[in-house]
Amino acid sequence: MLDQKTTNLETDFTRHARIAYPIICGAMYPCSNPELVAAASEAGGIGIIQPLSLTFVHKYDFRQGIRYIRSLTSKPIGFNLIVEKSVKRYEDQMKAWLDIAVEEGVRFFITALGNPNWVVERVRPVGGIVYHDVVNRRWAEKALESDVDGLICVNNRAGGHLGSESPEQLVEALRGFGKPLVCAGGIGEEKDFLRALQMGYAGVQMGTRFIATTECKTHPDYKAAILKATSADIVATEKISGVPVSVIRTPYIDRLGLKAGPIARMLLKNARTKHWMRTFYTMNSLWSLKQTLQKGSAYKDFWQAGKSVDGIEKVESAGDIIRRFAAFAGGREDSSSSLRSESE
Ligand SMILES: Cc1cc2nc3c(=O)[nH]c(=O)nc-3n(C[C@H](O)[C@H](O)[C@H](O)COP(=O)(O)O)c2cc1C
Repeated sequence: MLDQKTTNLETDFTRHARIAYPIICGAMYPCSNPELVAAASEAGGIGIIQPLSLTFVHKYDFRQGIRYIRSLTSKPIGFNLIVEKSVKRYEDQMKAWLDIAVEEGVRFFITALGNPNWVVERVRPVGGIVYHDVVNRRWAEKALESDVDGLICVNNRAGGHLGSESPEQLVEALRGFGKPLVCAGGIGEEKDFLRALQMGYAGVQMGTRFIATTECKTHPDYKAAILKATSADIVATEKISGVPVSVIRTPYIDRLGLKAGPIARMLLKNARTKHWMRTFYTMNSLWSLKQTLQKGSAYKDFWQAGKSVDGIEKVESAGDIIRRFAAFAGGREDSSSSLRSESE
């Protein structure tokens, strides 16, 4: 099966998301700007809104930001919610954003880092679909207790927070649940996309590949670092958020180190100080990552990226990437005429 040259691009995931091609432009703090989200959706994949990126980095009022994206595409868009307790102080904010997203017609949601139950309860009555980020079987079992519709399987090649299992291990461990699985991590070129679908994934989520695009507003130094890097340059550091995050190894990262210090580790383990420590990391990293996006190397050589850098050779438009991937894996020329219409 893996030696076939093409595959069917219509999957349970494309039916859920109501899109033509099983490709997600993953939520990325701070790289998800509205133009990138819209371009991915317009090309037949689906762009995911990262709310802090939209409001804090790119300075949109949340509702106006969605309406701006809507002015660029009428095709489905998605919304990413972090539902973890350590950001409990943002819980009211997340709920308010979710209400606005639903009012504005968003129907596809990706939840991360916590119990997605309240999101499922809120969106299912209006026809919403929820996929939850998981890194192993135990997380998947927990997510399925909340009756999520699908799983985003974050593997050990991913940019951002990474998992510890390979794409092959994850699909084997999770396929028995009978839910659509999306491969997140390590997809840099079209052959990776085809291979993921042939392994049994119903779609892919890409982050790093979409940073090196014309629509992504990140600093040119960041895009150049992605083009130059190979997977051997990607290391996981705990210094950004307290848990491993994939970054490109640079002299700055070498100075920073990869492991959280002993005091931070102790505070992260302790039930009472854990939330405080995570909040500290979150605030610190939100600010630093925003600086990196805007100032490039003039701030710090601090670039989040996954091992998919291997297949990324030039800055392209997000639409060209999606059409090229679809044509390669689907075995036909750009079939945008067959795109499903927005039915949100
Ligand atoms: C710079 C960067 C920021 C990210 N931020 C988020 C985020 O805010 N929320 C989230 O759920 N995933 C985030 N991710 C993960 C991506 O959505 C996606 O799952 C991942 O990038 C896939 O791996 P790849 O980079 O190899 O394509 C981020 C990834 C990167 C590279």
